[in-house]
Parts: sequence; C-alpha cells; structure tokens
Amino acid sequence: MKKLCFAIAIMAICVNVGWCQKHQKSSGIIPAPLEFKTYNYGFKLDKNTKIIVNVNSPEYKVAEYLHDVLDTLFKGMKPILAKQDNPKYNVANSIIFILSSDKKLGKEGYVLDTKRDKILIEANENAGFFYAVQSLLQYFNITPYGQHISFSRDTIYEPSSLIALSMIRDACKIVDYPRFAYRGKHLDVCRHFFIVDEVKTYIDLLAYNKINYFHWHLTDDQGWRIEIKKYPLLNQIAACREQTMIGHYRDYANESEMKFDGKKYCAYYTQEEVKELVKYAAERYITIIPEIEMPGHSSAVLSAYPQYSCRKSGVKAACTWGVFDDVLCCNDSTFAFIEDILSEVSELFDGKYIHIGGDECPKVRWKECPVCQKTKQDNGLKDEHELQSYFIRTIEKFLNSKGKSIIGWDEILEGGVTQTATIMSWRGNEGGIAAAKAGNDAIMTPENYLYFNWYQADPKTEPLAFGGLTPLEKVYNYNPLPDALSTDEQKHIIGLQANTWSEYIADFSLLMYMDYPRTLALAEIGWTDKKNLNYDKFLESWENFKPFYKKLQQGK
Ligand code: ACM
Ligand code: ZN
Repeated sequence: MKKLCFAIAIMAICVNVGWCQKHQKSSGIIPAPLEFKTYNYGFKLDKNTKIIVNVNSPEYKVAEYLHDVLDTLFKGMKPILAKQDNPKYNVANSIIFILSSDKKLGKEGYVLDTKRDKILIEANENAGFFYAVQSLLQYFNITPYGQHISFSRDTIYEPSSLIALSMIRDACKIVDYPRFAYRGKHLDVCRHFFIVDEVKTYIDLLAYNKINYFHWHLTDDQGWRIEIKKYPLLNQIAACREQTMIGHYRDYANESEMKFDGKKYCAYYTQEEVKELVKYAAERYITIIPEIEMPGHSSAVLSAYPQYSCRKSGVKAACTWGVFDDVLCCNDSTFAFIEDILSEVSELFDGKYIHIGGDECPKVRWKECPVCQKTKQDNGLKDEHELQSYFIRTIEKFLNSKGKSIIGWDEILEGGVTQTATIMSWRGNEGGIAAAKAGNDAIMTPENYLYFNWYQADPKTEPLAFGGLTPLEKVYNYNPLPDALSTDEQKHIIGLQANTWSEYIADFSLLMYMDYPRTLALAEIGWTDKKNLNYDKFLESWENFKPFYKKLQQGK
C-alpha cells in the first residue's frame, strides 16, 4: 500500500511538472547536450518574442546576435528590452539572459530552461551564452548564415511568403558544458584557396556546433597565403604556382608523365582581411590558430627568398602534391627572416597559439649543406633530427618572448622537445601518447580517424580524394583518450581536431561535402560527455540538418 501511494505521488508530481514521460527524448542538437529533458507543453517563438538582457553586461552582444538572427527570420522582431537591476522575469513570451555563478558551467557551459512562456538562459561568460543561443537555434532548427538561413520543420509561414510567423517546440531544459577544452577544425588554404566570405561561412558552421579553434593552414609548398609587409615577394611570388596537376598524384608512374592544367594559381589574404576574419571568429567564440610551416613544406617561400634555402636557388612553388627536399636552411639569417614574419603574424592573431608546422621535413639538403652542418657542430647536435629540434626550439623561444606558445605536428618530438610545446598527434595516437607521458599538452588529430580529405565511402562512388577511409561512424567512434595513458596523463590531452587538406578540394561546395556531416561527428565527440555518445541518436539529429548542408554541398 505504501508503495502504491508512493507511485501515485510520483505520477502526480510528473503530471504537474510535466516532463517525466518525455525524459528520454533526443534533443536533436549537435553536439548532444549533457542533460536534456522536455516538458509536456510547447514553447512558441514569434516576432513578438522579446529578448531581455542587462544593457550594460557583456552578454548584451550575444543577445544582439540572437536578435539579428530572429529578426531575419521573423522580420520585425520586438526590440531588445533592457533588464537593469530589477530583472523583469515576468515579461511574457520572452528570452531572458541571466548571469550565473555556477562554477561547474565553466567558461563555455550554460543552462537553458524553457518555462511556459519564457526561456531563461544562464551562463557565467559570453561563450556560454553564445553556446546556449546556438543550442536554442538548433533546437528550433534555425541555421543562421546570412543568405543561407534555413527554417524549422515546425515553422508556420505567412501564406505565399518566406516570412516565418511562429515556431513551436516542446519546452525543454538543458544543462550543458564541454568534455574537452580544445575542439578544433583545420583547413588548408594553400593547395586550394577559399575566399574571405567562404572562410566566414566556414567559421559560422564551426560555431554552430561549438567548435572553438580554427586552425588556418596558411603556408605550404604550393602557395604562401598571408600578406607579410616586410617581405612583399611572399605575395608577389610565393603566393603563386605556375599551374596545378590534374588527377591523382598516385595515377602517375613518374613526374614526367604528369598532366597539368596550365593555369597560374595565385591567392593570398591581405592583413586587413586577416584582421577582419580574426574579429569575425572572435565574435563567434572561435580562436584562429595560424600555421606558418617550417622548416619543411617551404618551396613557395623559397621561390621568393631563395637565399634561405641550402642551395640558394632553383626552388619553385610546387605544382604537384607531396613532400619536397628543399627546406629552410638552418642558420641565424633564416631565423631572423622567420622571426620577422612571425612578429607580423603574432600581431595579427589574438590567441596564444601559433602553429609552426614541423612535419615532413626531409633532411637530405641539411646533410649536404656546410652551413647546416656548421650549425649542427657549433651546437653539439648529434644528427639532423636534433638539428630540426634546434630549429623549432629557437623559434619557440622567440615566440615565447612575444607571449605566444607553439603548436607543432608530432614530428617535433623527434630530437627532443621543450615542455611548453603543444603536440598535434597526426600519425596516429602515438605522438599524443608520447607527448602526454612527457608532460606536454597534446591535441589528437590522427589521420586514420580525423582526416576529412580521406574518403568517406567507397572511392568508386566518391569524388576524387586523397585516399584512406574515414567514414562517419569511424569518426564518431574515435576515442581521444587512449588507455595507454593514466588518468593524470590523460589530462594533457586537451582535445581533438579534424584536418581537411585541400589537394583534391578545389571549391567550397566540395569542401562542404568532405566536411559534413563528419565535422558534426567531430563536434559531438569533442563536446559531449562520453556517457551520452550514441551514434543512432546522432544520426537522428543529423536528419534535421541534412537539407541545409545538402544545399551548401550543391553550392546554394
Ligand atoms: C600532415 O598531415 N602532414 C600534418
Ligand atoms: Zn642549409
């Protein structure tokens, strides 16, 4: 009898509170939130929904952003209402921003609670408010990208127009914060270039899924893509290659058989454009990490400034893909040149990290070069791996003096690394494991799981790609915390990142095809608590967004 009374009492509470029955429902939000429940009543958004925020608070900016998005959708939203000292919690049909002091939410966490006629958004910092807004937009299936705005499946439209009248969804409560502090996405703009507007859309999409670092691969053998005022030949010469190879590198038995398109390919971002993009990203709580490759992948820079190569001449920006023998000569004049470049780069980017590459640096030129050999001897270095390490340490010291920290690909572990470098583990997990065991921070980006220039399905049915196979489910099942690490060592794995190299990606729609939905899987395994990872539910949520991404993939 006691048990029966207890059950009846619980049921009564459930009916009152209104959410027991729907407790298990999937949110449809990517990345899936930590806690999510729905109530048994709906919440309606329409043009009379009011946004209420303290006008003098930092989060006012986020409220404005939300207002802009909703105004685009509803045309003629109510203006933002100021919440001064006396919070107007009783305004009906409103979205209210409330500063929280809940430590567990951290910098990026938030609570979003939908009452009968209002939505309360709580966070400690702007990033948290911003992510609450992204979750809200996703929940209503609104994708906020300029002309790419797409509307909810639950939208009621004004007859014969695209102006939304209202959207109704089940009221819900979300409590959410990320699993990893670093959630990164990389883009190579050297092999193929993407214009400022495309990079902006790219950044919008990352922000929509709570990715917080954009790794911008700006220099490589096939082109130097950032303006450096002190060295104008970088933009007059190094930003160009004579032509581009056709088809797949592996289709040709040797270089002499290769086919080329005969079209000169030149492009770079001006410093003004870089500043604009850094600001644009910061407004979306994304830090841009510029990558300036050294000492390898340097054909383009050496085509403009051959005095910094071991042989002093004969290098051209590459027209094919691969790894090239001519690299930066390891001596003080090269360091001075690179440090000048990095001084300008450091000024342009607001984050603490500068990526200095360090991967795939053949040592053949160094072995033959008297200058490099002298550097090796003068500094008591055992071999060319230690010479590479000496190169990286010299540059790291310089960047530290500018208040920056370096990230390098896992090759920088060879020959010894300082305690302060962060390692990007790309040749599997091993580099990340070695780094974490040595006490260095590491970011996991193993090619066999997180390279999105690899095929995502049977190559016979896919556009030409680099090779390999990283289908969606494989990405989703990647575990960034290897068992080989103790719990303490795992703390050095600060997060994960996926990379998209653009050898075979010549335009933005193909980039969208290669990156989506795999980037959504990346976002989820970077943010969502392990206990909530569920591939089937992820696929269900993806269905909500598929039409939007399909349009982008068709160049619409
Ligand atoms: C790399 O893919 N070479 C870092
Ligand atoms: Zn040399």
